[in-house]
Amino acid sequence: MTQPFEGKTAFITGGSTGIGYATAAKFARLGANVTIANTNIERGEAAAQRIRDNGGNALFVQTDVSNSAQVQNAIHRTVETFGGLNYAFNNAGVAAMGPIIETDDEVFDYVIGINLKGVWLSMKYEIQHMLQNGGGAIVNTSSTAGGKGMAGLGTYVASKHGVNGLTKALALEYAESGIRINTVMPGPIETPMMEMARQGIPGADEMFVSKTAVKRIGTPEEVANAVVWLCSDEASYITATNFPVDGGMLEL
Ligand SMILES: NC(=O)c1ccc[n+]([C@@H]2O[C@H](COP(=O)([O-])OP(=O)(O)OC[C@H]3O[C@@H](n4cnc5c(N)ncnc54)[C@H](O)[C@@H]3O)[C@@H](O)[C@H]2O)c1
Repeated sequence: MTQPFEGKTAFITGGSTGIGYATAAKFARLGANVTIANTNIERGEAAAQRIRDNGGNALFVQTDVSNSAQVQNAIHRTVETFGGLNYAFNNAGVAAMGPIIETDDEVFDYVIGINLKGVWLSMKYEIQHMLQNGGGAIVNTSSTAGGKGMAGLGTYVASKHGVNGLTKALALEYAESGIRINTVMPGPIETPMMEMARQGIPGADEMFVSKTAVKRIGTPEEVANAVVWLCSDEASYITATNFPVDGGMLEL
């Protein structure tokens, strides 16, 4: 049976773990070729191999999303290997916690460099290829921290609000060129990032669960479902949207 994304190609940053890996695996199960762009070679190669072992087509390209030349190279390698670029999930991200008066300037540059500039750079080169292909769909990973203030998370909150704004602006800029651009705003999701939060915040599980309406932590697959749907033709009239996948957190 033909799969819905047969012959299509998806580029995924931060695709070797967590939400990114779940999305890469789902795209591959639905027939798409996937590129995983990540910093860590061992984890990236292992993730691509796992997808190939399950019958998918996957390429790993070592990429620091805050580095323009590396992002350009990863997207070039994707197009060269698979013959095009249809979908992109700009998802690589890092978190930083702590009061601003105790935060080093370098932490701001690091978080903004990956979470916001990384998304900016990725879209810059993805859109160039999508314009040549006659269109495409992009999803950027924001957060509920992109939809409200959160004390102690100022730098992260700023980066994710930036992702939401950038997404809307570029969605308007390229709507008539057939490129749809949206974000997902995950709530607390069971990933390595959540595991890190647990180590830094006593009682993290109870705290996160209490902030959702559904009273549980979400799975990476629940975010992947939304990303893949937003990329699909079923979402053909959806662009410039920041889409919560948060168990009701933003409304609570
Ligand atoms: N887990 C949550 O509760 C949650 C909630 C809201 C938003 N998010 C966002 O989801 C995204 C994915 O995070 P996750 O929860 O799956 O955790 P994760 O730590 O598994 O994923 C982050 C990925 O980004 C990669 N990465 C980090 N710096 C990079 C760089 N410079 N270049 C390329 N890749 C880099 C990491 O190697 C990792 O694979 C992030 O943008 C995060 O901010 C997560």
